[in-house]
Amino acid sequence: MNKIIDNPLIKIKLSIVRDKETCNAVFYQELTDIAILMSPYIFQDLKLQEVNIETPVSKTKGYEPAEKILFVVILRAGLGFLEGFRKMVPFAKTGFLGMYRDETTLEPHDYYNRLPADLKDYNVYVLDPMLATGGSAIDAVNSLKKAGANKISFIGLVGAPEGLAKLNKTHPEVNVYLASLDEKLNEKGYIVPGLGDCGDRVFGF
Ligand code: PRP
Ligand code: URA
Repeated sequence: MNKIIDNPLIKIKLSIVRDKETCNAVFYQELTDIAILMSPYIFQDLKLQEVNIETPVSKTKGYEPAEKILFVVILRAGLGFLEGFRKMVPFAKTGFLGMYRDETTLEPHDYYNRLPADLKDYNVYVLDPMLATGGSAIDAVNSLKKAGANKISFIGLVGAPEGLAKLNKTHPEVNVYLASLDEKLNEKGYIVPGLGDCGDRVFGF
């Protein structure tokens, strides 16, 4: 399932993020806000269980999550998404995969891995704003499956049709959420129009 989230507030914020004049601090703040705005669409089917609570006035029923959620942040750019999603889903746990794309071959390289042992018990959401060739997302899902995860979704900001098609073909069961499906990749593997190098824009280099 692919879901391109269509929301006017996200569109306005994504335009600020795309603008090359936007500074690192504002870029990060807007990414955080976009994550907050994407959350209700992504978690609209979250399973709940009823609990008894007491308001200052009376006893009533309340709700708590009935699923274990794990965010897996792809370093570095995924860190730009973490604050907003953690704010909306504070009961989630967070794991990390470090990977970078070789600028010449565009192949992903892994350099760090910190995941919980009981991965099979979680609904796992990979956080990486950029889905370009799809190599990093596919590699991340491969690593998560190898480590025991069996329910995996991908949350991105901007995707290229080439990368989305490759991810869908390699891992058809992975649900993909994006705020925009852009036009194409350029000859250097950048998303067009995209927003440039997301990690650099979050962290300044
Ligand atoms: C970016 C981005 C993705 C990857 C997407 O990371 O955050 O992980 O590129 O490209 P792909 O779909 O072609 O694999 P990058 O390699 O620039 O690392 P960084 O965030 O640490 O700068
Ligand atoms: N990674 C990025 O950060 N931006 C792109 O456009 C492609 C890959």
